[in-house]
Amino acid sequence: MTEAVAFPQNRTCPYHPPTAYDPLREARPLSRVTLYDGRSVWVVTGHAAARQLLSDQRLSTDSTNEAFPIFAERVAAVRSRRPRRTALLGEDDPVHHAQRRMLIPSFTLKRTADLRPRIQRAVDELIDAMTEQGPPAELVSAFALPVPSIVICDLLGVPYADHDFFEGQSRRLLRGSTAEEIEDARDQLEGYLGDLVERKRDKPGDGVLDDLIAQQLAHGHLDKQQLVELATILLVAGHETTANMISLGTFTLLQHPEQLAELRSAPELMPTAVEELLRFLSIADGMLRVAKEDIDVDGVTIRADEGVVFSTSVINRDTTAYPEPDTLDWHRSARHHVAFGFGIHQCLGQNLARAEMEIALRTLFDRLPGLRLAAPAEEIPFKPGDTLQGMIELPVTW
Ligand code: HEM
Repeated sequence: MTEAVAFPQNRTCPYHPPTAYDPLREARPLSRVTLYDGRSVWVVTGHAAARQLLSDQRLSTDSTNEAFPIFAERVAAVRSRRPRRTALLGEDDPVHHAQRRMLIPSFTLKRTADLRPRIQRAVDELIDAMTEQGPPAELVSAFALPVPSIVICDLLGVPYADHDFFEGQSRRLLRGSTAEEIEDARDQLEGYLGDLVERKRDKPGDGVLDDLIAQQLAHGHLDKQQLVELATILLVAGHETTANMISLGTFTLLQHPEQLAELRSAPELMPTAVEELLRFLSIADGMLRVAKEDIDVDGVTIRADEGVVFSTSVINRDTTAYPEPDTLDWHRSARHHVAFGFGIHQCLGQNLARAEMEIALRTLFDRLPGLRLAAPAEEIPFKPGDTLQGMIELPVTW
């Protein structure tokens, strides 16, 4: 019955899974979906099965495997012209493990806690600028994007003055309309970061990239191209993802006035609210894998060389894990959601993302008590289903 469900599809409401996924919710924990090119792959939709399979190293993230699922024609064209694995995320262990070990010290809870004053300062300055120039404001460009962008620049040691360039190229990389555009964006980003690495060799700073140059590149544990590819994923993942959570999180709170009022009267709920928003919004909806061997799970067999898609939005609304999953509820324990993935590829930047969301949302609603949408909710554009979910624009006033 679910064979005909196409994946991915555009959301009907920016914060709910597409209604067209309803049959998948009824057929948990696994069923089949059809990709844009007519290929049929497994889709994982049950919470327990997802955590089990995401920990199973017989599932690979190697996108150069012909059977790896692809969401759009433009991505397929890039893969067939220049098949290449993404650094870290596209590698299986042991290569993945070696790369991840180099980065872990830069993303610990402690390192993130040290960044909190920097995050708070960026948030305050951006709200100062908004209140000097507005109301109204366009919240994605004035706030949701610059917060994580400033912070990841600071952490990596990338000059924020170049943000228009790398934000624009990241957008083209993730949502470019042709293979040429996506490849060009990747070349531009890698060229830019390659030049930056050369400049840093002459004049080191104190960012993560400087540490990687001194500790890994200088000792031959990484070559320059590998370092540049790691820098690219860190820079892109470091700002595009959290920006979507801040924009969509704000929109969702404004559409849920009771929950917003509760959060304002009890700000200590913010850390659990961030967890619940991550679960509810599931902005990375569709993690991709291919089976390297046969895997028996829940009475079915995923065969070697079959594609597997994890629908985080459906998994995170599994009723066996979360009662009344379509309700936004600050009092549930949403902690075991898979919005950051699970297993060896679980999000490296999750501590940082949590701190950014918490500080950005708390300060925004504190300092602008009258914050509201400046356009009818149903007219505000949000992103299509084949990319990270979030608002394209968010007109607000206060
Ligand atoms: C709320 C914001 C974020 C969300 C929802 C998110 C989501 C995810 C998800 C779902 C994965 C796993 C993908 C998979 O297994 O296929 C992932 C991996 C990753 N994320 Fe995030 N992410 C966020 C913020 C960040 C930030 C701020 C960084 C900072 C650098 C980051 C860096 C990474 C990296 C490097 C990986 C690959 C890890 C690996 O393969 O070992 N993410 N993220």
